[in-house]
Amino acid sequence: MEAIRAPRGTRDVLGDESWKWAHVLKVCREVACDFGYSEALLPIFEHTELFSRGIGDTTDVVEKEMYTFTDRGDRSITLRPELTASMVRSYLEHDMRRLPQPVKLWGWGPMFRYERPQKGRYRQFQQVDFEILGASSALADIETIDTSMELYRRLGISNLQVLINSVGCPNCRPAYRAALKTFMESRLGEFCDTCQSRFERNPLRVLDCKKPGCRELSESAPLVVDSLCGECREHFDVVTSGLSEIGAEVRVDNRLVRGLDYYTKTAYEILAGELGSQNAVCGGGRYDNLAEAIGGPHVPGVGFASGIERIVLTMEGQGAHPGEAPRTDVYVVTASPDSHMAAASLLHEIRVSGISADMDYMNRAVKAQMKHASSIGAGLVCIIGDEETSSGTVGIKDMTSGVQESAPREEVLARLAAWRESRGTGR
Ligand code: HAM
Repeated sequence: MEAIRAPRGTRDVLGDESWKWAHVLKVCREVACDFGYSEALLPIFEHTELFSRGIGDTTDVVEKEMYTFTDRGDRSITLRPELTASMVRSYLEHDMRRLPQPVKLWGWGPMFRYERPQKGRYRQFQQVDFEILGASSALADIETIDTSMELYRRLGISNLQVLINSVGCPNCRPAYRAALKTFMESRLGEFCDTCQSRFERNPLRVLDCKKPGCRELSESAPLVVDSLCGECREHFDVVTSGLSEIGAEVRVDNRLVRGLDYYTKTAYEILAGELGSQNAVCGGGRYDNLAEAIGGPHVPGVGFASGIERIVLTMEGQGAHPGEAPRTDVYVVTASPDSHMAAASLLHEIRVSGISADMDYMNRAVKAQMKHASSIGAGLVCIIGDEETSSGTVGIKDMTSGVQESAPREEVLARLAAWRESRGTGR
């Protein structure tokens, strides 16, 4: 029988890589604290309607990429493809309008999209997501970009390109839609089938089509920036001038449209050269009508999400190391079969005292145990055999200097603590 492998588009994160992930999440948590976000742990599956109404049912995500199934209670359920819609759902469900505004939430976890897997693009991937809910001020937009850039700075990532645009609002979009449709109408037959089918329902999606032919055609399409209403224009001006005020280098890209329909006004992406074709490490923007789209009152919001796989790939590409993964401090070597229980009891005490420790469960000979201790990077080895048991002592070997001494059993913990203190090891 062939061994079962993980499904296409999923990956196991192991060893040194999982240490990098833990580091990324630790830094996210620190940034969240410093910028005033509280953590929201939300369900991995939601009612399908949340996404079809929230993200838009003519988007690629909803039309082609969702993992949707009917559960045993005959409900249509979807594994979340992103977090923003869930964040807004949670805000509404818990009536967070009662709280002092804005409400700032962050979260992380797996997302699911049925996409063609390649470097940096998976069917199960992880995002960290930051949202400011309840604030319509352009200052909130600025803050989200500042937050993401600070996150990357603390992770040792540099050389990122921030692209920003305004995609307008329901006041100015009808005029833009009309201009775009007029532009497309004369050459409609030259667009791909998907774009043609979207011409009536959602012509803006055409600008996001990745097919070279459609890309070329939309080069000369009218720009949304030329149709912005006064309010959107002013909002965009405040965002761009505010970003330059805080020293954030951003490039206005009037062709930037995002793959999710909920965006209003500000939309942005942050690109990393190390990522290859899937070069967006972050995507974000404002979504003032999302709450209403999913059945709530008007709640403006703005935020961003960043893929953890892409953060780690960028760190690796730029040589940004999170430091060594913690090693086991102490290895307890059993020098005779009769001393197993004494060794296990010492092991327990060492761990309880807050020092990491391990021992052999494979019946290895003493020499092999020493070799194993060295291979896992243990700094000290405690040796317990018949001689030590009868004299009430423990042998302690410093694996760096090679020096071995004998210590009274009751002094062992204090000696290990002093050694740890002198090395400054810790997690
Ligand atoms: P998004 O642009 O779809 O936006 O995704 C955000 C980030 O998630 C991307 O820039 C990328 O780093 C990562 N990502 C997306 N798809 C994949 C994939 N298949 N494999 C690996 N990484 C991926 C959103 O999801 C919005 N909810 C962002 C947002 C938050 N807007 C406002 N608030």
